[in-house]
Formats: sequence, C-alpha cells, structure tokens
Amino acid sequence: MSCPLRFPPGFLWGAATAAYQVEGAAREGGRTPSIWDTFSHTPGKVLGGDTGDIAADHFHRRPQDVALMASLGLTAYRFSVSWPRVQPTGRGPAVQRGLDFYRRLVDDLLDHGIRPLLTLYHWDLPQELEADVHGGTAAGGGWPHRETAHRFADYAGIVAEALGDRVQWWTTLNEPWCSAFLGYGSGVHAPGRSDPVAALRAAHHLSLAHGLAAQALRAALPAHGRIMISLNPAAVRARTRAPADLDAQRRVDALATRIFTGPLLHGAYPDDLLADTARITDWSFVHDSDLAVIKHPLDALGINYYTPTVVSAGTDNAPPRHDGHGASARSPWAGAEHIAFHRPPGECTAMGWAADPSGLYDLLMRFHREAPGLPLYITENGAAYEDKPDAAGTVHDPGRIAYLHSHLTAAHRALARGADLRGYFLWSLLDNFEWAYGYSKRFGAVYVDFATQARTPKSSAHWYARLARTNELPPPP
Ligand code: FCB
Repeated sequence: MSCPLRFPPGFLWGAATAAYQVEGAAREGGRTPSIWDTFSHTPGKVLGGDTGDIAADHFHRRPQDVALMASLGLTAYRFSVSWPRVQPTGRGPAVQRGLDFYRRLVDDLLDHGIRPLLTLYHWDLPQELEADVHGGTAAGGGWPHRETAHRFADYAGIVAEALGDRVQWWTTLNEPWCSAFLGYGSGVHAPGRSDPVAALRAAHHLSLAHGLAAQALRAALPAHGRIMISLNPAAVRARTRAPADLDAQRRVDALATRIFTGPLLHGAYPDDLLADTARITDWSFVHDSDLAVIKHPLDALGINYYTPTVVSAGTDNAPPRHDGHGASARSPWAGAEHIAFHRPPGECTAMGWAADPSGLYDLLMRFHREAPGLPLYITENGAAYEDKPDAAGTVHDPGRIAYLHSHLTAAHRALARGADLRGYFLWSLLDNFEWAYGYSKRFGAVYVDFATQARTPKSSAHWYARLARTNELPPPP
C-alpha cells in the first residue's frame, strides 16, 4: 500500500468565494449597483434571468457561515470586498456600514483561527465608474479608461486603512483576464462590451490598477502586510506539433498569460504580443512610467486553475474554456480570432471543462522557474457537478472528490519538485451565483438550497475537512 501524500506543516487549507457570488443584500447598507448588478438585470445576459440580489445570503448569514468553515477545519478563507458596498460611487469617502461588514467577518474568522485572504476586486466595479461622465471616452468609462486604475488605488488605500490591522494577506485583483477579455472583448461578462481594443486597454489599466493599489497598500499596511494578485494563467497545449498549431499556442499564451506576467514579473509587454496585436492597436495607452509601477514587488502569486486550453490554427466552433463562462458570439481573443479551440481529453465537469491536473502541475512548475523565490498559492481550483440531495438529505459528490484528489496529487508533485506552494483554496465554499450561468452550476463543497438558504456539507466537504485536519491526502472515494 502506498503512503498517503503529506503536505508541509503550515500549508494553508482554504476555500474561496467572491462578494457578488455569495453576499446578496444588493441594496442594503448604502451599497449601489456594480456592473454585475446592471448586467444580471439586463434580460438575456444571465441564464434564467438570475441575479446576485440574494445569492447565498452570506451578508446575513456571516456568523453561521464562519462557524461552518471552522467545523470543516479550514485554516484560511479567501473572500472579496464589494467595492460598491464600501465606496458606492467608486469615489470619495467610505461607507462605514460597508466596512463594518468586512470588519466583523474578519473578526469572526480570526476568532476561529481562520486566516483571512482579502481580495479587493472580484469583478464588481461600481456602475458609476463604468458609466463615467467625468472623463470617460464616448464609449464609456470602466477599465478601458485610465482613470479607473487611480480610483481603484484610492479604494485599496481606504480598505487597507480600515482592515490592515487585522488582515495580513491582500490580493489586488482576481483574474484580470476575465475582467478585460470577457467583460470588454467577448461581452459574456459585465459590462458586456465587445470591442477588442477596449479589451486590451482594459487589460493594461487593470495591471496599472494592480501596481497603483500595491503602492497604496504598501503605504497603508503594517510591515507584515503581504500583497499578491490572482491570475488565471492558461495551460495552453497545441493540438499537434505542426508549426501553425505551435504558433497558435504561442499567441494564446501571450494573450492569456504573458500579457499580465510580462509587466508584472518582468516590467515589459512581450514583443510577440505587441506584434500580434499591432493591426488593432499601437498600445499608445501604455505610458512610459506605467511598467515600473506594475512591476511592484509581489509577496506571492495566486494561481487559479480549472482546465487546460487546447488550440490549433484555423477556425472551429468548439468553445474554449475562457468562453465557458457563457455563450459568446465574439471571440475574446483580440488579434487572434482565427485560432481554433478544442475540448481537451478527460472527463468533463458540469461546465463542460475537462478535468486534467497536468495543467496545474505545468503552471506551478512554470512559475517556479519563471519567478524563483516567489511563493505560490492555488487561489482557486474546483469543479461543478450536478449535485442533488438524496432522500435522506445527504449530498454525495464523488466526482468532485476525484477532481480534488487528482489536482492535489499534481500540486504535491510540483511541491516535491521544488515549487514553493504555500496553500490551496478550493472553489468554492458554497454553491453560488456562477456569473453568466446564474445558479445553474454548483461549485460548492457545501450545498445551498436557494429556496431556504439551508447549507448541507457535501461528501467532498467532509473529505476536505479530513485533509485540512491531517495534512494528508485522503484516498479518493
Ligand atoms: C473563476 C472565477 C470564480 C468562479 C470560477 C468557477 O474564473 O474567478 O469567480 O466563477 O471561475
């Protein structure tokens, strides 16, 4: 019998959520609409017309939810702050009631010995900044507009002043690729714009926002404060070794990953990215001083991973993973619209995403080599299944356990080969509002009955609790 895999002492076992996906209370305490409120209330944008108005009602169930985390043995919790709950117009002073919610959440977590990992932006831009009348372009404000990066830095400073005494780990942005390319490129995410140049501008201004926010955080946080960002780098495979397919792989790698890691880790945009997109923009929105700001030293890198991306030259209608957040009429891949995406081999989850842990291993080893000495966290990983309670009310989700087991085995292999991986955050703690899919996709380790808001830990939650308590990977079901 083989020995169970052991993780290093102090390895963090967490779960993740995001404000708009779980909080609800959309109009309480002075909160104003974010781009996701506007988008989800626009007919046809979200499956079934679902919105985050109530979501998992976490705003009202905070104490019970934290107790639930503790009962599952979690040692960390990754959550996001809703910008419009704290700074409703995206400008000016903070709303204390909004900050109080997060202050209480953090206090509850600390009381239970759960380490908070705070994300400042998980996609809920205050609507007023999108519909900016104070200097946005004719097409609107939002992330394609430089000013938004400065607004974000101010907001980061406000939250850091309020919570910096209690929260050590700060993540600026979650998956800026999705904000830029699904929000402004394909339009399947809020604010639902479809303009390749706007998407590239948004990508740059998100990176700039990260850099400016990192400066604001560094100024406001005590010395032990730590700053990171969570990316969703793509594990891109070429369908064949043919030169044209390898070139497609290179292009998608540039547009999905190096567009962010270039400036963040190396202080420059990759030459091949600039050449590939030269037809649509001259990148004159990048100011000389921006790159030094974006390269602000990071204390860790967060990696979100679900499935690999398989590409070839030519066109094909198979939906890529990154389109998988909703049906897309337009490609999000600015300047690489001719590339074909294929379903990777492997069993599919309810999202239609193939379970292939080798992509996670490859990404961990890639950043281990590319950014030596930079600690890594898996800030999201998990799977949606069609979970249902049985007659006894129990929710068995062996598929999810198998998914987690295989991905954690891959993570362990990377650790054994030297990757400085410090923790793992399961997506997600609770079933929640899965963006363009509404409530139709269940990612939680805890089942939520959205009619009653009752929470039922699935078998995967019990399996994960055992892992968190022992630091040893339990066998798959
Ligand atoms: C990621 C998002 C997260 C969730 C998972 C399934 O891209 O960051 O909010 O939707 O996908």
